[in-house]
Amino acid sequence: MKLVILGAPGAGKGTIAKLLSAVDGSVQISTGDILRGAIEAGSELGRRAQAYMNRGELVPDALMMEVMEARLQQADCENGFLLDGFPRTIPQAQALHQLFDKLGIALDCALNIEVPRQVVLERLTTRRTCENPACQEIYNIKSKPPAREGVCDQCGGTVAQRDDETEAAISRRLQTYAEKTAPLVGFYRQRGLLLTTRSTSSEEVVEAVTGRLGSAR
Ligand code: AP5
Repeated sequence: MKLVILGAPGAGKGTIAKLLSAVDGSVQISTGDILRGAIEAGSELGRRAQAYMNRGELVPDALMMEVMEARLQQADCENGFLLDGFPRTIPQAQALHQLFDKLGIALDCALNIEVPRQVVLERLTTRRTCENPACQEIYNIKSKPPAREGVCDQCGGTVAQRDDETEAAISRRLQTYAEKTAPLVGFYRQRGLLLTTRSTSSEEVVEAVTGRLGSAR
């Protein structure tokens, strides 16, 4: 699969990407995970990104394109990739499609996960994430708690709330999504690549994608 996954913060992009990755081994590329890993590692990328992320703002396009250009040329992308949280602006989408042309890549579709605002707010305040940069498994204290509170089922790492999960940052992230990222829905609709789902069931979203890709092949 070669997919872009769009959706507001908390819509379930990371959750769906992990489920789709298990279907055929396509690699999940979460720019949020990459940036949080860089912050944890104290790298130059992390230092440049941290303040934007904690405020709930987007990291500058040029920096994100550098990250993505390098990542998409790694060998594990050859069998498919799921872009979770990228692109997030029209300039990022334009640059991404220029890069696809250069690398000879054809996108299968752009999955747009639409979930009501109340559901998103509820999910974001109850989400917990594994802090191990190599894992970053997603949990939810209501719908998917770890077996032992605060401990990751996958790697034994610490499960906690993210730094951008404050009320102010969540509200800013939702506003940023509406202003900067929501216009990508039109961008992909115009190109005939858009698949919108309004289901709050992860299984139904996965079925919508595999159904669409199955019928296109
Ligand atoms: P990022 O990490 O991408 O955050 P986000 O877009 O705000 O999305 P989230 O990770 O919050 O939510 P999600 O949709 O993945 O939902 P999840 O599956 O976790 O980005 C963070 C920051 O990095 C940005 O604010 C920005 O600063 C920067 N950044 C990243 N990419 C960038 C880019 N391209 N350009 C510039 N800056 C960039 O699910 C949420 C919760 O709901 C979980 O607890 C989950 O268990 C639960 N859940 C999910 N599905 C269901 C379901 N069906 N039923 C019940 N519970 C569910």
